[in-house]
Amino acid sequence: MKKKVVQQKPQHRWKRKVLTLMFVGIFFGGLLFMQTRWYTHVVGLVPLNHHQFLVSQPHVQSPKIAFLFIARNRLPLEMVWDAFFRGGDSKFSIFVHSRPGFLFNQATTRSTYFLNRQVNDSTQVDWGEASMIEAERILLRHALDDPLNDRFVFLSDSCIPLYNFSYTYDYIMSTSTSFVDSFADTKEGRYNPKMHPVIPVHNWRKGSQWVVLTRKHARIVVDDETVLPMFQQYCKVTHYKVHGL
Ligand SMILES: *[C@@H]1O[C@H](CO)[C@@H](O)[C@H](O)[C@H]1NC(C)=O
Ligand SMILES: *[C@@H]1O[C@H](CO)[C@@H](O)[C@H](O)[C@H]1NC(C)=O
Repeated sequence: MKKKVVQQKPQHRWKRKVLTLMFVGIFFGGLLFMQTRWYTHVVGLVPLNHHQFLVSQPHVQSPKIAFLFIARNRLPLEMVWDAFFRGGDSKFSIFVHSRPGFLFNQATTRSTYFLNRQVNDSTQVDWGEASMIEAERILLRHALDDPLNDRFVFLSDSCIPLYNFSYTYDYIMSTSTSFVDSFADTKEGRYNPKMHPVIPVHNWRKGSQWVVLTRKHARIVVDDETVLPMFQQYCKVTHYKVHGL
């Protein structure tokens, strides 16, 4: 209960910020629209050449970042993402994995960016279980179908962008490597010795699942037939004492 009350306030503040942003956007959008109309009106005879120039340019499409959302149901912060993607310039794609049976449509999302972006073969995800990896693989499989998708970012339904699109895009694309979190987790009971020798203890690491993968690494995760079966068999919440749930 207490947690909920604390969370409400920043959300309202966000809503107000997003609203303000939208109004500023509409204002400048209107100005731009008027200017463009004025421009084409004044130089009404020029567009023929201008048009030919545009057509002769080779059509090079930029590599895209696939934003892969793992949500319980809807995305409560979708309007923050909406503002973020408005600066995206077609250099992104979106895929959403929600629990089976939940449908993203006009009634459940206010952002058009999330319409028709839901994967149709989602699975039930349980905290701390291998089903989370299966959801990630489903999202990756869909995203890999588009050869322009070059980086794959996992996001939860409570993630928000801290920087604008162009900054985020340039940051992720500035290196040819994946972004992963990895550290030796020596806590008692984390490693199940039954996973030996497929996953030897000296290879055991912990890390956040919210990673950025290159296409090569995304392919490895999707094609993996060694690690996932071990996790499915031996990584279960009941094996640990879970605190704070
Ligand atoms: C999901 O959609 C794809 C493409 O539209 C289709 O080929 C596939 O059969 C669908 N899968 C399910 C489980 O409905
Ligand atoms: C995006 O953010 C960066 C860093 O905060 C800033 O320098 C840049 O001007 C912003 N770009 C746009 C298009 O708003």
